[in-house]
Amino acid sequence: MRENQIKRKGQIEPPRGRLGVLIPGIGGAVSTTFIAGVEAIRRGLAEPIGSLTQMGTIRLGKRDQHRVPRIRDFVPLAGLDDLVFGGWDIYDANAYEAAAFARVLRREHLDPIKDFLTTIQPMPAVFERRFVRNLDGTHVKPEQGLRARLEAVKEDIARFREMHRLERCVMIWCGSTEIYQQSSDIHQDPDRLQQAIDRDDPRVPPSMIYALAALEMGVPCINGAPNLTLDVPAMIELARRHRVPIAGKDFKTGQTLMKTILAPGLKARMLGLEGWYSTNILGNRDGLVLDDKDSFKTKEESKLSVLEYILQPRHYPSLYKNYYHKVAINYYPPRGDNKEGWDSIDIFGWLGYPMQIKVDFQCRDSILAAPLVLDLVLFADLAQRVGLSGIQEWLSFYFKSPMHREGLYPEHDLFIQLMKLKNTLRYLMGEDQITHFGLEYYFNETDA
Ligand SMILES: NC(=O)c1ccc[n+]([C@@H]2O[C@H](COP(=O)([O-])OP(=O)(O)OC[C@H]3O[C@@H](n4cnc5c(N)ncnc54)[C@H](O)[C@@H]3O)[C@@H](O)[C@H]2O)c1
Repeated sequence: MRENQIKRKGQIEPPRGRLGVLIPGIGGAVSTTFIAGVEAIRRGLAEPIGSLTQMGTIRLGKRDQHRVPRIRDFVPLAGLDDLVFGGWDIYDANAYEAAAFARVLRREHLDPIKDFLTTIQPMPAVFERRFVRNLDGTHVKPEQGLRARLEAVKEDIARFREMHRLERCVMIWCGSTEIYQQSSDIHQDPDRLQQAIDRDDPRVPPSMIYALAALEMGVPCINGAPNLTLDVPAMIELARRHRVPIAGKDFKTGQTLMKTILAPGLKARMLGLEGWYSTNILGNRDGLVLDDKDSFKTKEESKLSVLEYILQPRHYPSLYKNYYHKVAINYYPPRGDNKEGWDSIDIFGWLGYPMQIKVDFQCRDSILAAPLVLDLVLFADLAQRVGLSGIQEWLSFYFKSPMHREGLYPEHDLFIQLMKLKNTLRYLMGEDQITHFGLEYYFNETDA
């Protein structure tokens, strides 16, 4: 991507027409909570709480200029009325039935929009049980072989576009977490990946088939799960070639959100860390999938890395070199989507005196994730329209394991991530970057 290919203020056209949102895993808790929420907001029944694009503001210029527009008024994002939802699932329940199964939203919120939700019917999925062993759906594509399945997904996208007369589409993976997989030779470049597809190589999971279909059709692609999917050289190169934005991975909600809020604070005050024990109980379908140790390993990798990057033990060995970090998830059906996450944090301060912090976050996983899906869809569409392609590091704010260019380390600190995101918007709209320097306000005073 070259800087002169990026459209900036005055060159960015307002979004026209409808934007298709393509979701592998459309029958899941996150997807249905997102879709139902958007429809409730469109009907004026709810507010978009948790969504930065809808509720957030952005400071522009100097603090004494008082220019603080809403983000959605500042950058030309697609409107909620222009979103059209479609996707795939391994169960054939429509969005109303699937949302009722997920038990995130109560009937009093689902029933007023039942007419809308029942019209959203998943397309048959590309599925291989060995990648998600605890599920066994039947609503799957009959096509045999990876190449035929890839072509079938591309036909689905083309049909969806045509049927709804869509101007643009964005794909966002909200499907289950696949088993742990490391990047291997077939993932290193597009040719080897294509050859692997032709010989039905078992190292190509369904999530890669969807992602490949999106990239080949010029559709921005986002990964909300910790799966490898887009985070391999072959996909990154394809995104570059097709000039498509990609972002991932693993929505940052719940316990990791808390971790990336708290850890930067401890580090800012130079407080040491001896140990951070995190455990969760979770009873939804995601919890069931993560009860399989290989799916959990994918999640564990994603959750463990954040402290290391925030605390930088290499620069602060006496504070952070030897801390013990443990993350556990236990499947506990009675809790459903209402995950409870406990953190027991052992820190030390002046003269090494120990202290403890306990966090008991009784959260609702999909309630936290849904607004992230909305923001990511709107920002990925913006990225495509302004010519930002490849990895969208400015969207790190939304992910547990942010994708990043080789040779750079990922930024996990939520506040740095937010600053990065807002500075990207300022850059696109021709506004000055905000450095929070601030001394300039006092220079004139001294001179006077
Ligand atoms: N806060 C959160 O809820 C949160 C945070 C971070 C990441 N995630 C990730 O987001 C994803 C969705 O979470 P969820 O709670 O909605 O889970 P869920 O189990 O309710 O939904 C996942 C859906 O994906 C479907 N699916 C599985 N394999 C598929 C395939 N190959 N093609 C199409 N559909 C397929 C399943 O049938 C299910 O309906 C998970 O990977 C989860 O780890 C969720």
